[in-house]
Amino acid sequence: MNEEVLFTVTKDSLETGLRGVPVGYCVTSSVHPENGLFYAGRPINEICSWEPEKVIDLLFRGREGREEEVTAFAHELKKRAPLDIRVGEAIDRLPREGHPMALFSAALLILGMFEQTGDYREDALHLIAKAPEVAARVIHRHAGWGKTPLPDLNAGYMESFFHLLQVPEKKESLKEVLQLFNVLHYDHGGGNLSAFVGKAVASGLEDLFGSLAAAMNALAGPRHGRANQECLHFVEESLESLGASASSEEVEHYIRERLSRKELIYGFGHAVLRVEDPRATLQYSLAQKEYGDHPLVRMALLIREAGTKVLKENPKINNPYPNVDAISGSLLTAAGFPYPEYYTVLFGLSRVVGIAIQIVYERCEAREGKGTPIVRPKYLYKKREI
Ligand code: MLT
Repeated sequence: MNEEVLFTVTKDSLETGLRGVPVGYCVTSSVHPENGLFYAGRPINEICSWEPEKVIDLLFRGREGREEEVTAFAHELKKRAPLDIRVGEAIDRLPREGHPMALFSAALLILGMFEQTGDYREDALHLIAKAPEVAARVIHRHAGWGKTPLPDLNAGYMESFFHLLQVPEKKESLKEVLQLFNVLHYDHGGGNLSAFVGKAVASGLEDLFGSLAAAMNALAGPRHGRANQECLHFVEESLESLGASASSEEVEHYIRERLSRKELIYGFGHAVLRVEDPRATLQYSLAQKEYGDHPLVRMALLIREAGTKVLKENPKINNPYPNVDAISGSLLTAAGFPYPEYYTVLFGLSRVVGIAIQIVYERCEAREGKGTPIVRPKYLYKKREI
């Protein structure tokens, strides 16, 4: 029996979103307040330029795969990629009203109706392999961009998504940005809301597709995955108010004014991190290198400096640094994907990877293979004062 005390629950820990309360193990990734994100023990900046298949293999395996293992894994994903024709047809008939994340979540349920085996591990591989076409179809259906082409079975995982995505006036350089975005968003520890929700739903023995659809509904909230869309609007608004040649002093003044009006500054802070999110740092570098002259990128870089400076002055703010969403929308726009409504679908396309693998661990491996029990925390009764 291991009785080490990891956390003491007091009344002050209640109604805090379980902040800091350990509830289990995560075998895929971890988030350190100062050092950021690690996939299977490797810092994200060490592996962000690997091929997506190699990173997914790392998350599945928990160690770097040997060359022949990664090749076999990539082949396995390719083999599983084609969608049952009925899945494609059903996605192409989904209602177009509402946010695209509603369609993405519905599309995962449809995938489960036709392609589920009932084995979590098999279904996780199926889902990950098919997710690029599902996401592309959802975007095309919602945007009205016409038919989704057939997958290119010779292309790599994200190359295939790039091929499937029918963006008007598509630029070749978008491929690099989509790939980096995809690799950076696979996983973020065990306790982010969508991973936690997906595992909680799976703990009732809901199948993998239903659990992932629930996880995607969690990701769709503006405090979680949809923050990337809101952040771009903030950068756009700042640009509109200050103009393309704004100075750093003007941006700082603008931020102070917003704060004095109690308006939000988007793209800063994180529940765990206490430094700039390394996923943001990597995207800032690419943005600066490739699209430094783009007005949105220039503004996002000015906000990075000014926002941090101003927020740091408030001792109540425990993380005054940019998070992953601060720059992703500006980078995607500069690279030729100026469609913020779909940014959370891109996040979802990536995050299904980490959540699916975490569910496989909890259902098939945890507690010597017995799996974790149904999630059932305790709530204390409180009489409401009316
Ligand atoms: C994420 O990538 O899931 C977000 O940074 C939120 C989180 O980690 O809680």
